Amino acid sequence: MDIGIDTIDFYIPKTVLAAEELAQARGASLDKYLNGLGIKKIAILPPDEDIVTMAANAAEGALEGVNKSEIDMLLFATESAVDQSKSAGMWLHQLLGLPSRCRVVELKQACYGATAAIQMASAMVQKNSQSKVLVIASDVSRYELNSPGEPTAGAGAVAMVIAKDPRVLRLEPKTGFYAEDVMDFWRPNYKSEAVVDGKLSIRKYVKVILESFRQYQDQTGLTLKDHSYFGYHIPYPRLAEKTHKMLFFENGIELTSEEVSEQLKTFLELPRLVGNSYTASLYMGLLSLLYNAKEDLSGHRIGLYSYGSGCMGEYFSGVVSSQYKSQIKPDLYKKRIEDRRALTIDEYEAFFRFNYPREMGEFHLPSYNNGVYRLDKIKNHIRLYKKREEPLNRG
Ligand code: HMG
Repeated sequence: MDIGIDTIDFYIPKTVLAAEELAQARGASLDKYLNGLGIKKIAILPPDEDIVTMAANAAEGALEGVNKSEIDMLLFATESAVDQSKSAGMWLHQLLGLPSRCRVVELKQACYGATAAIQMASAMVQKNSQSKVLVIASDVSRYELNSPGEPTAGAGAVAMVIAKDPRVLRLEPKTGFYAEDVMDFWRPNYKSEAVVDGKLSIRKYVKVILESFRQYQDQTGLTLKDHSYFGYHIPYPRLAEKTHKMLFFENGIELTSEEVSEQLKTFLELPRLVGNSYTASLYMGLLSLLYNAKEDLSGHRIGLYSYGSGCMGEYFSGVVSSQYKSQIKPDLYKKRIEDRRALTIDEYEAFFRFNYPREMGEFHLPSYNNGVYRLDKIKNHIRLYKKREEPLNRG
């Protein structure tokens, strides 16, 4: 049975910080941001949005044309949880009107969470071919103001339905994966920003791909030459490019810098305009490749590398379905990206420092012009979400 991504959509906040604005405010070199890291814009979440609203906005698109009563599992992958006990998926389940006969759970392993969810969803469909699993990747990348990590912030969500006879990407069952306990990036419960050993995180990211790809080769007998396209987790685009070059080099093929940037150009186009969206980032890249590629991708194999600090990595592959174009909406996505509002550094810092209530009482969130779903208020520690009344315009 063929199993994989049947539908896919994404959501990004409508407010964004340009690399130019951040570089000027921090007295940093713009060239470092644009070329050293490879970022152009960073998606910034306003106070009345969180992983639940981003997920709901992304899921609206992924569920278009899908019979919701067939969704029997919702896997919500995030490392930006809004609660220690209740799964973010429970709010989403209610907002989307999913059936009560639906398993709902939240998954965490840094940026790897969504890949774990996809693998679990595939196993569920293998067990029951009628199953349809909604997988959500929704995250906010957040580092201290003025820290080296700050230009690698970002936010976004990707929603996917995993099912049999997938219309977007058929996932290949054999993969390579690797786990190791390491403190390269983490966020203790009492902190709202990540703590990071940047250089160690880069070393681990690179080590883990070599190990997972070696395993993938042993499992499948496939080599780099059996792939048409490649995609990597994208903490910042330049690392994906460097890793691509290094993976080829370690496998006996020397690529020029021009070849590397050409081969990853379409994959990195959207992530360059969003920043790191943690567990959503690899799948933002996949969508970017699907809607930006000029050529027909049908039947082509894409190799994908998922990395989550801490650390867990997996190299896997999928073959693009012949109907994939019926499931993507390039014009809508382009409008969604263009329609964002650029923040000044003061507006960005005000969003960053926004204080959510920690006591009993009713607290209304200021309303920004964002997606269809928003966080309306927090009442006695309960988060209350709202769907906008006006007609749906997901642009
Ligand atoms: P840094 O110390 O500010 O930057 O931190 P740098 O000095 O290393 O410079 C970065 C690059 O820009 C270098 O290129 C410089 O040469 C270049 P490289 O040597 O790497 O090829 N550069 C310039 N280029 C052009 N013009 C200039 C210029 N100056 C310097 N004037 C770092 C960079 C990524 C470490 C920091 O932003 C950070 O800590 N980010 C967060 C951690 C991270 O993204 N790690 C990546 C791997 S871990 C991962 O992917 C997991 C993660 O997504 C979390 C999760 O799993 O949940 C983060």
